[in-house]
Formats: sequence, C-alpha cells, structure tokens
Amino acid sequence: MDRRDFLLSSSLAAAAAATVTATSNGPVLAQATPPSEVGVNPDRPNTPYEGSKANRKLQIVNLLDLEPEAKKILPVGGYDYIFGGSGANWTRRENVEAFSRVNIEPQALSGTSQVDLSTEILGSKLSIPIFVPPMGSHGLAHVDKEAATARGAAAVGTLMATSTVSNMSMEEIASHNPGPKWFQLYVPTDRGYTRELVQRAKAAGYTAIAPTVDNLWSYPREENIRNEFRPPSTLGRGNLPRGMDPAAGSKMLSARKRDLNLDDLEWIKKEAGLPVIIKGVMSARVATAAIKAGMDGIWVSNHGGRAFDGVQATITMLPRIAQAVDGRVPIVLDSGVRRADHVFKALALGATVVGCGRPIMYGLALGGALGVQSVLEHLRDNLTIIMRLAGTKNVKAITRDYLAPPAIA
Ligand SMILES: Cc1cc2nc3c(=O)[nH]c(=O)nc-3n(C[C@H](O)[C@H](O)[C@H](O)COP(=O)(O)O)c2cc1C
Repeated sequence: MDRRDFLLSSSLAAAAAATVTATSNGPVLAQATPPSEVGVNPDRPNTPYEGSKANRKLQIVNLLDLEPEAKKILPVGGYDYIFGGSGANWTRRENVEAFSRVNIEPQALSGTSQVDLSTEILGSKLSIPIFVPPMGSHGLAHVDKEAATARGAAAVGTLMATSTVSNMSMEEIASHNPGPKWFQLYVPTDRGYTRELVQRAKAAGYTAIAPTVDNLWSYPREENIRNEFRPPSTLGRGNLPRGMDPAAGSKMLSARKRDLNLDDLEWIKKEAGLPVIIKGVMSARVATAAIKAGMDGIWVSNHGGRAFDGVQATITMLPRIAQAVDGRVPIVLDSGVRRADHVFKALALGATVVGCGRPIMYGLALGGALGVQSVLEHLRDNLTIIMRLAGTKNVKAITRDYLAPPAIA
C-alpha cells in the first residue's frame, strides 16, 4: 500500500467509524432514523444554529462564486445541507454539466435591440421567466429566513414558491411578498391536515399548489449523515397543523404520504380550488398521465439532485417531456440552473419559467433580501444580453429555432 492509498483507506475507515457511532445498529445505510439535533454545528458545538445577518447588494460575476463565499460564513452542517445532493452527487453535477451539451444558434441581423423579459404563467404576470423554487428552512442561510427571500423576489417582480417545511408560516411569507406565489406541498398522510394546508394557502393568496412527488423516501445524503445534521426545529416550523401541540404537529408534518398517486392529486386539486402543478416529473409517461388526470402544470425537476442520484439531468429530459406535453399545460424547469444561457436553453426547449435554487440560498446568506435580489438581477441582466445576441425580442420568441441541431436528441 503506498502512502496515498493508506491515507485514503484510513480516512475512509475514520468516516466509517464516525458513521457507526451514529447508530447502535451498525453502519448507516439509509436515513431510517433522522439524526439527532445534537451537533447541528459540528464546528460550533453546543451553540444554537444561527444563519447570517448580512444585508447588502452583491457584485456577482458568476453565481458559482457564491458557493465558497457562503461556505465561509455558514455553519458546516447548514452549508452542506444546502449544497449537497443525494448519493454520489452525480445528478447534482450532471444537472449543471448537461446544459453545456445544448448549444445556441444565434440569429444575427434580426434587428433586435429592445427585449422584453416579462412572461405569464397560469394567470400570473412575472417580470422575468426566472423564479425562486421552494426550499425548506431559509433560516439555515439567514436570520430573516423566508421573509428576506420573499422581499428579494418581490423587488424583482417575480414568483416565489413557499415550501411546506418553511421556517416561517406561509401567511407571514405571503405578507412580505405582494407578488405571485405558489405553495409547494409535501403531501401529508393525514387528509384533514392536507386540506388545512391547501385552504390556508388559498386564503393567504397563493395562486397554485405544487405537490412534490419525487422525494417521498429519503435517499441518503452523505454529508448530512456524516454531520449528523438536519434543519433544527429551533429555526421554526411555520406550517404545523393548527391547534395541535408542536411535538404532535411536527410528527404530522413529517408523515408524508409515501404511496402518493394520481387520485390523491385529483383530490388535492378539488380541495384547493387552485391550479395544481406536479413538481418532480422526470418521465414523459408520468407527464402524460398527470395531464390526463387534469393537472395544470408539469414541473420538470429532480430536486437539484437531492432526491435520487443517478436520475438524468432535467435539461436532458426536457425535450421528451415537452413533446409529450405538447403545449397543453405550462412546463416549469429547475435543477442545475446557474447561468442565464441555461435559462435561455430551457425556455427554447419548452419551459415557460425556470427556477434557480441553491444560488438563491447563497445570495440570501451573503446579502439577505438584497442578496436574493442580486442573484435574480444577475440572471435577468445576463439573459437580456443573451436575448439581444440571439435575436429574440421576447420570451415567447425563444424556441428551438435558436438551438443548434446536433444538441437536439
Ligand atoms: C436547501 C434546499 C431545500 C429544498 N427544499 C425543498 C422543499 O422543501 N420542497 C421541494 O419541493 N423542493 C425543495 N428543494 C428543491 C428545490 O425546490 C429545487 O428543485 C432545486 O433546488 C433546484 O435545483 P438547484 O438547487 O440545482 O437549482 C430544496 C432545495 C434546496 C437546495
């Protein structure tokens, strides 16, 4: 064994030992039991978790630059939780890399100088075709939690989706965001609680419900296991069932309906009286079935590679799903969007709006509401330039005609 092999095997052994001590039943193969909240900050033991307090505009050159900066200021467990993907992180990386296999074919001499980035989805008008997808526990990034993200999205005039597992309540978040908003639903097993959540969302002004269908079982996220980390309850759980003590309510919140099917989604649509967009569709067949069941939108997402490692990149799947959808309902795409040309490519392949996840959390950590605003403005300003160069005067004009043929499967 040479020195390098030795170091490798001893560090693996150390990691394995650490994992073994995390449970009395042997090595952890899956997150069957959530790790305890003890040690939420391996670098700052015995202190309650606290996100950043930054409040400033960011000068952004490249959204990927935000990762190491956020890492410097966030507790290890919180940063790794936001950054990490499931398993070997192949899908997380592939989400970004696959965009480079789609290429733009600009139409010079189009005479385009003014471009209009505004768009509309399910009756909501947005200033840009870029939005904030649902992410739980914004308190991991910033002490102002989801309120700051909501203010950042509202400042730019775009949509934010609120997660079921937000730290603040969906009503508080809505009060910071006069603009368009959707509510993401992790469907609970309890139907009474499910009804309560969707009715609360409607009353608070959310205009669509997005049940997430791709994260029903916890695929191991190795960093969280090593860090013994999960988002601490001290940051708040905003959408617990009403009139129930927090311990019992938390159990209900965590009890997700794992045998979710289309009948459940039809029932949710009836109870909510709002359009329903299915989040986590990675198959043309599932998209077709969902539309047949009356669903109002298809959200192509693999949860940013957090739900199921080995699943294809969303941009790779988009052409087949768009073909199956055939313009009947809008398509939303997220996962791996880090640059404005990624947004352009997703729009060209059939998406109506495009979500950018983790960079929003890093922007929140580094600058609060102003940081979130900076991330969205960075994408907006670069998309403006790309549209001018490509010769597309508005969002509707961005079609496959602006992609080079070899990249289209
Ligand atoms: C920290 C974090 C928390 C998330 N929480 C949720 C959630 O509560 N519900 C959900 O449907 N998706 C959740 N997601 C997935 C996002 O909605 C989105 O699909 C993903 O972040 C897009 O990938 P990207 O981060 O590569 O842009 C979360 C993502 C992150 C990074």
